Amino acid sequence: MKKRVAKRSSAKSDPKKFWKLGVDDFNTEHFSVNAEGQLIVHEGKHQYNILDVIKKYGTSTEIVFPTIIENRVRDIISTFDAYIKILGYKGKYRYHYPMKVNQNKEFVLPAVNVGANVDVSSSNELYIVKRMLEQGVFRKNIHIICNGPKTPSYMDLVEELRAKNLNIVPIIEDYVELERMKKFNGPVGIRVNLDVKVKSHWDKKFNRFGFTEAELLKIGKVRNLSILHYHISSQVETLEGFAAPLKRAIDLYAKMREKNPGLDTIDIGGGAAIPYEKKRLYSTKTLIQRIVRTAKTHADKIGVKHPNLVSEWGRYVAAPAQITLYRIMTEKALGPKDDRRWYVIDGSFMNDLLDTWAIHQKWHVIPVNALNAKKLRRVWLAGSSCDSDDKYTAGGTHILLPDLETNRELYIAVLDTGAYQDPLASHHCLLSSPAKLIAANGEIKIARKREQPEEVRKLFGW
Ligand SMILES: Cc1ncc(COP(=O)(O)O)c(C=O)c1O
Repeated sequence: MKKRVAKRSSAKSDPKKFWKLGVDDFNTEHFSVNAEGQLIVHEGKHQYNILDVIKKYGTSTEIVFPTIIENRVRDIISTFDAYIKILGYKGKYRYHYPMKVNQNKEFVLPAVNVGANVDVSSSNELYIVKRMLEQGVFRKNIHIICNGPKTPSYMDLVEELRAKNLNIVPIIEDYVELERMKKFNGPVGIRVNLDVKVKSHWDKKFNRFGFTEAELLKIGKVRNLSILHYHISSQVETLEGFAAPLKRAIDLYAKMREKNPGLDTIDIGGGAAIPYEKKRLYSTKTLIQRIVRTAKTHADKIGVKHPNLVSEWGRYVAAPAQITLYRIMTEKALGPKDDRRWYVIDGSFMNDLLDTWAIHQKWHVIPVNALNAKKLRRVWLAGSSCDSDDKYTAGGTHILLPDLETNRELYIAVLDTGAYQDPLASHHCLLSSPAKLIAANGEIKIARKREQPEEVRKLFGW
């Protein structure tokens, strides 16, 4: 069949614009394209030529940019503080980095270093907190929130760290924990499953997390209660998705304060969205202004003390801080009457970017070289495992990438891969996990080498 190639029109002849790079609202402000059509990442006065990095370290490879994490955490904290001041809000704000989003050291440390507190969801995550404490990583006044089901070892660790004077607050998730926490000496939080639906992938009909509003009102007094917590969803794409649950939580907070006067904080959980598809969402400023304004207006309306606010935004901070790089190994016809092509990568969506398979995550995929190519093909990407589900099709449409005949050596970058993919990663067909590089202060360091056969065999008891 005769190959059809898409041509970039002259209106789109600026590669930076065409690939949606250099745009704040898309979190691509640090990307640009050099005169040779290669991808450049800027970090203050430093810059990285990604093709050069690939030439040195190969693919498949992840690159983490800790500065992006630092900037995003700083931005959240300073924007909340600014709107609290501007709007005359009486409560305070605390940001907690939810470790589950990415537990790698090179994600957690930059966040904590610029003022993040931490939210853990398991005993093992809390164990890492304990290590950080022992290594003197923390500032003295750091706060730790403990979510997730409390196994005995998890609770023992909470108590151990509390005894070491860490500001640690376990969040009660069910009746068994409620009973257990009667013996706990420090402040506690409680999680509510708010009766509000917001538009998002995770808005499941049945939510197993926390207590219903009616249950909480029936429980009444909770010993040392200081935080009311909810997590409405992830990747919440509308402002109303933040305002509606917050109003409902403030109503509940007001009622619960009658029996729990020490309750002074609402933890709104995660949810701030990432423009994975490079379509405009809300700006950070608009989102935070809306949250603080909603809290103030609603608390004033029902006459309750302004609650302190906590958020646990995970993907917002972590996703843009990592890119994943692959080489296109070969191409194949998609079907007899289809002019789209399979481009086969030297890695795996099912293993390295598992949400592609699990929740049909959309990604922004761009070339690392040949960004200025005039001939582009409509392609689907195939992973290297044997699995027919190991693919990325951009929702069944296509991805545009340079033509392989003109560009025999082609590398791609998948953007925004810093959230959730590492902890979910797997070893289908025993493929090696990508190398992990850290790009900071103009230097590249290896955080994890690409897995060798010896390491992979050991994982499976060989
Ligand atoms: C309790 C809790 N907090 C925070 C988060 C982080 O959510 P996001 O990454 O959408 O901000 C999650 C995600 O599942 C969560 O369950």
